[in-house]
Amino acid sequence: PPQTGLDHRTLETYETIWGALSVALVWLLFVGVIASMISGTFPLLSGGGHGVVKAGRVDPARLDATPFARPGLVRTAQGLELYIVARAFTFTPAVVHVPVDTPVAIHITSADVVHGFQVTGTTINDEILPGHVASFTVTFRHPGPQNVICNEYCGAGHHAMTTRFIVDP
Ligand code: CUA
Repeated sequence: PPQTGLDHRTLETYETIWGALSVALVWLLFVGVIASMISGTFPLLSGGGHGVVKAGRVDPARLDATPFARPGLVRTAQGLELYIVARAFTFTPAVVHVPVDTPVAIHITSADVVHGFQVTGTTINDEILPGHVASFTVTFRHPGPQNVICNEYCGAGHHAMTTRFIVDP
């Protein structure tokens, strides 16, 4: 019989190779999707500074993989950033010292249920949802204490859920 160039054996080999390649491609796609899902879970880890927080999402079960692992005031290249974790029935940190007349980028998330974050006597008032980061920049103009309350009913200890800013001159 005339040679076609591809005998049965060769065809089988090609089939095997292409089969393996398509399986590999599906796996690559799958791994890629998973990886992007994971990296999407930790938007706070990428970039640093303000860029980080714009993503606005965190996995409440994995806060220890984000800057919320160490709540409090940090100085970054962009300025002062304050990370606060709300959980039934506390804010962490319980007391925060902030400098007067200095912009502070505040980022808050919840480790459990929906909380509120209201700085009494100001217009700062936000809903704090698990999985989301509420971010806003505040410049405190008056030295002294400033009370923060949770204004979303979150359970038995809701009324006692408070924190304080101490604005240092
Ligand atoms: Cu937290 Cu009400």
